[in-house]
Amino acid sequence: MSLALNNIGHLVTNDPSIGNGPLGIINNAGLVADDEGNIVWCGPQDQIDQYTEAQPIDCYGCAVIPGFVDSHTHIVFAGDRATEFEARMEGIPYAAGGIQSTMMATRAASDELLSLNAQHLAYEALCSGTTTLEVKSGYGLSVKDEERSMRVAQSITTETTFLGAHVCPTDLKQDDYVDLVVGEMLDACLPYAKWIDVFCDRGAFSEEQSQEILNAGAKAGLGTRIHASQLAPSGAIKMGVELGVASCDHCTHITELDIEALASASNTTVATLLPAAELCTRGPLPHGRHMIEQGVTVALATDCNPGSSYTTSMPFVMSLGVILMGMTPDQALWSSTQGGAQALRRTDIGNLCAGSRADLVVLDAPSHIHLAYRPGVNQTRAVVRGGKCVVGAL
Ligand code: NIG
Ligand code: FE
Repeated sequence: MSLALNNIGHLVTNDPSIGNGPLGIINNAGLVADDEGNIVWCGPQDQIDQYTEAQPIDCYGCAVIPGFVDSHTHIVFAGDRATEFEARMEGIPYAAGGIQSTMMATRAASDELLSLNAQHLAYEALCSGTTTLEVKSGYGLSVKDEERSMRVAQSITTETTFLGAHVCPTDLKQDDYVDLVVGEMLDACLPYAKWIDVFCDRGAFSEEQSQEILNAGAKAGLGTRIHASQLAPSGAIKMGVELGVASCDHCTHITELDIEALASASNTTVATLLPAAELCTRGPLPHGRHMIEQGVTVALATDCNPGSSYTTSMPFVMSLGVILMGMTPDQALWSSTQGGAQALRRTDIGNLCAGSRADLVVLDAPSHIHLAYRPGVNQTRAVVRGGKCVVGAL
């Protein structure tokens, strides 16, 4: 079934060649998608008859934006860490070691429970407008448990990331574990993975180990991404840029030199900022607007995981980007859609141009500015993925 929408009060296309400003905004717009779920046309609504014979669905002046692309999540896990969160709010600092407790709960969970938990979180994300989700492994940390985590990830998305190098389990030596990750574990996870990631930080993996792990993944045909400078300043961002990773994520302790390096590689490497993780760990906040002004390509993502950022909401993350990271509402919208797509090296999502997927959100709001302006409020009227309404009603 094809899709035709009209009376869109404010349509964000992310294509400056067909609308106003950097977001390519068209007021009083229409949009048509074909039977395959691809956009055929969007433009001024009085032209819609040229592109469809169907009676268009009236959007009653609501805003329509591209579906969110959440390019960083860890939703394959069992259990929760509410007690750790409570202790942190009382003053205990966040550390990488907490991952071990989720590892134990994940290993103890049945395949069915692991799968149901991940599906539940993916559905929660969809309900707030996320139409594409990247999903990492990283709470199994054994060959068997990483492999089944990747199988669960693959049942949810095509954007699957092998993160065996999340942390070294306490019963193994770091070097032995790195050997396992680049050997038997990588082989077992490869059939399910598109990307490889590594937590390069204090209490996780060194730059040298991280480089070995990313190179092994790349050699096996995987795209690369890195958790960089979340807990302490390091050379991880610069190393990520030099390796040509698709994205350096967190960038919490970013320096001006890191910003220069990222700016010089803005077509290759995205900086993915995760403000909900900084909020929930009381970490410092990188200044998103400054980074963009220096020429860095910035994405925003949730980092959904039970330790540092237990949220699936991209509208909430957008609010944080604007209110706490200095980003303008336009920048935050772009980073949550097109920026996420670029972090996944996708051109068919994150925008509403002819030829792209008809993945979009109809908002109960007159413009995308309301997403940041009304933090924590659900303003999703309907979510369309591949041309079909999957949440709410049109
Ligand atoms: O991105 N930094 C590493 N991994 C996650 C946290 C994982 C956890 O605490 O369970 C993150 O914040
Ligand atoms: Fe993460």
